[in-house]
Amino acid sequence: MVAKRRGFARKASPMTDHPDRDKSVHPPGAGRRKLYGRRKGPKLSARQAGLRQTLLADLAWKVGVEPAGQFPNTVRELWLEIGFGAGEHLHWQAAHHPHAGLIGAEPYEMGMAKMLTKLEEKPLNNVRLHEGDGREIIEGLPDASLSRFFLLFPDPWPKTRHHKRRFVQMEMLDLLARKMPAGAELRFATDDKSYLPYALERLMAHPAFSWTATGPSDWKNRPADWPPTRYETKAIKGPPTFLRFLRR
Ligand SMILES: C[S@@+](CC[C@H](N)C(=O)[O-])C[C@H]1O[C@@H](n2cnc3c(N)ncnc32)[C@H](O)[C@@H]1O
Repeated sequence: MVAKRRGFARKASPMTDHPDRDKSVHPPGAGRRKLYGRRKGPKLSARQAGLRQTLLADLAWKVGVEPAGQFPNTVRELWLEIGFGAGEHLHWQAAHHPHAGLIGAEPYEMGMAKMLTKLEEKPLNNVRLHEGDGREIIEGLPDASLSRFFLLFPDPWPKTRHHKRRFVQMEMLDLLARKMPAGAELRFATDDKSYLPYALERLMAHPAFSWTATGPSDWKNRPADWPPTRYETKAIKGPPTFLRFLRR
């Protein structure tokens, strides 16, 4: 399934000695830095709690298990959204792209509950969910298997001492580069004036990714196949920026 596996031969990159490279940022296994904020919020309703027991159990992504066996055989590509919030973007993408298998990761219990409610009301057979850190999913995927990656309005971690918790790090881009075949797309959106240059600096410096933009309208205007998220409609602090990068 999915994009054909193409081995990604790791070459020494010009970023190897980038000062940003802190090997302690994403060491495998326990004890590594936590990337997300809270898991618990308001108490779930009985219906929401029930859906976590039933629907989430049915749709749970099995980390490390071959992706093809986890989706119906109509699915040809693997897409992943990290931090889907309440899931409106994830649901829209899955509904409009039945050929894609969408995995969504969200550690916030109430966000997951809202997505489960959407799926109960409008079921889709090409969505799988992970109530936890999206990094675990990426690590468990076969190389060159991920055709599209969404990171929309990630937590900005504004304090300088917390910047290492931001999802976009050189090590994370190395990992994504391994999991994405040539031509795969990475989408990033933010309204945060500090995270934008932080992410752009790393994405543009990374040899495996190239920015598709040819002018300001490309990052200022919402692409047609990119619906607004809940955060965007309720909590946005300034004009959003939409970035699309392709795996070289
Ligand atoms: C500011 S909210 C935006 C949510 C959604 N993307 C939107 O635009 O409405 C960021 C979300 O990312 C989630 N998140 C943070 N770190 C994560 C991680 N490592 N893996 C998965 N989700 C994460 C948080 O729980 C939170 O719901």
